[in-house]
Amino acid sequence: MNPASISKYRPFPPVHLPDRTWPDQTITHAPLWCSVDLRDGNQALPQPMSIEEKLEFFDLLCQVGFKQIEVGFPSAADTEFNFCRRLIEENRIPDDVTIQVLVQTRDHLIRRSFEAIAGAKRAIIHIYNSTSPLQRRVTFNDATREYIRDIAVEGAKLVKELTPSLPGTEIILQYSPESFSDTELDFALECCNAVIEVWQPTPERKMIVNLPDTVQWTTPNVHADQIEWMCRHLERRDSLLVSLHTHNDRGTGTAATELGLMAGADRVEGTLFGNGERTGNLDIVNVALNMNSHGIPTGLDFSDLNRLREVYERVTRMSVGERHPYAGELVFTAFSGSHQDAIKKGLDRREKESQSSGIPLDSLPWAVPYLTIDPQDIGRSYEAIIRINSQSGKGGIAYILDREHGLDLPKTMHPQVGKRIYDLADELGRELGADEIRDAFYQLFANLEAPLSVKAYELVHHSVERGLVECSATIVLAGEEKHIHGSGNGPINAFVHALAGIDLKDFKVTDYRSHAIRGGSDANAAAYVQVQHDDGRILWGCGIDPSIEMAGLKALVTAWNLLR
Ligand code: KIV
Ligand code: ZN
Repeated sequence: MNPASISKYRPFPPVHLPDRTWPDQTITHAPLWCSVDLRDGNQALPQPMSIEEKLEFFDLLCQVGFKQIEVGFPSAADTEFNFCRRLIEENRIPDDVTIQVLVQTRDHLIRRSFEAIAGAKRAIIHIYNSTSPLQRRVTFNDATREYIRDIAVEGAKLVKELTPSLPGTEIILQYSPESFSDTELDFALECCNAVIEVWQPTPERKMIVNLPDTVQWTTPNVHADQIEWMCRHLERRDSLLVSLHTHNDRGTGTAATELGLMAGADRVEGTLFGNGERTGNLDIVNVALNMNSHGIPTGLDFSDLNRLREVYERVTRMSVGERHPYAGELVFTAFSGSHQDAIKKGLDRREKESQSSGIPLDSLPWAVPYLTIDPQDIGRSYEAIIRINSQSGKGGIAYILDREHGLDLPKTMHPQVGKRIYDLADELGRELGADEIRDAFYQLFANLEAPLSVKAYELVHHSVERGLVECSATIVLAGEEKHIHGSGNGPINAFVHALAGIDLKDFKVTDYRSHAIRGGSDANAAAYVQVQHDDGRILWGCGIDPSIEMAGLKALVTAWNLLR
């Protein structure tokens, strides 16, 4: 910001609450959740959802498990009114779901809202009026506190009067002092208590007091102080559900909600992925999955987050950012080598621990470096976790070759392969896809045929006691075909002796392993042979072939070629 401009801003006054208790609380259970996607979220869209889109979104919210859904502002526009009517008239509201409608505390709008919910089994009538000094001064032309409080009271009285007009509908009452976040606490309390006085809630018929962080003016700890202060001072606290409704102007909607819950709130309003006015409403997915990550059930099912995101992006025409918590494309992806190594070790270790203990993977406590939750629990696959660019390391490349292509490289081969492949990513200046990594591996480290290649071979295994293998092979060396013969204590050893017979003996085999390639369409085997040159260089080569013996010979030949 331009330094000269800073003088026009002021610090936000803290709340005097020296005996605050919220910092010592922990979140142990989920609040009541209310989705406001179809109202606050929809109001914030450049192109609001059509009725059909809202219907699809409503169904999605029900599938996720929301039991309270603010369906709109039916007195504000025909589309909103008609949407509400369709939900009711077409019996689209599940029995355990309560719809909520928002309305300003104005006579004709309240009456119209009652018309909108007629016939619903249950509905929340949510009235609000703005209470902050800024709104009183600017929007309401220097209105007095009394004037603003009376607007709330008159609205509450009318709602009370109209409630018996819908005998078939169980009506739950909700009041919001809009702009609570910058309203003097004593005045917010005065308005809420005045409405409570009119509505006379009881522990059996609770009303909702929603305290909106309409605009986030300050830090989340101050919001928590405001909530704790209100919870302490509201009349009939045991007959109220105190509700949070944070926005995200300072990027702290999630933090403010979490601290607000610690401060005593019972209920949370928000949207999927934080859609909403300006920087958005609270992202309920974020808060709920944060709770899940601490072992707290929430009643909301985000196990197929990709599908939710797809529907959300289609019907709202918004997009979820790549770094968005939990839902972003890249949030479970590690590019950096050290992260990839640690994640691979973490996943491998869990598998081993599960095998050795007999405890199913899902019951083992989650402990994988850099991953706060198991991506599979929200429908993300491990394949996307490790991606390769020039920042990546050997572990990540080995992980891709293993998980995606069934090639389980020996550990000491990882640095040799890793370096060449991430050098390639560096050269190209971009990320390498899993198939490109496989192709590069094949091209650089598998079945190399120049200057030496093996065309055919025959092995004779003598009796087990003698443990002797004889190898006759046809090779091509620098374009010239040769027939070689040797014997040894295994096929590789016999082939090495056969090569020695034509004076190719400046190396020794120092390691070998092989395995069937997992998931391959044709039943190929992979073999890895490590050789040491007389000059001290040590290199691995890989051979791939339907025959495990030929794979071994090809691996040796590849390693030999790499030494040239
Ligand atoms: O942000 C807000 O204050 C609101 C109210 C109408 C609840 O959306
Ligand atoms: Zn809002």
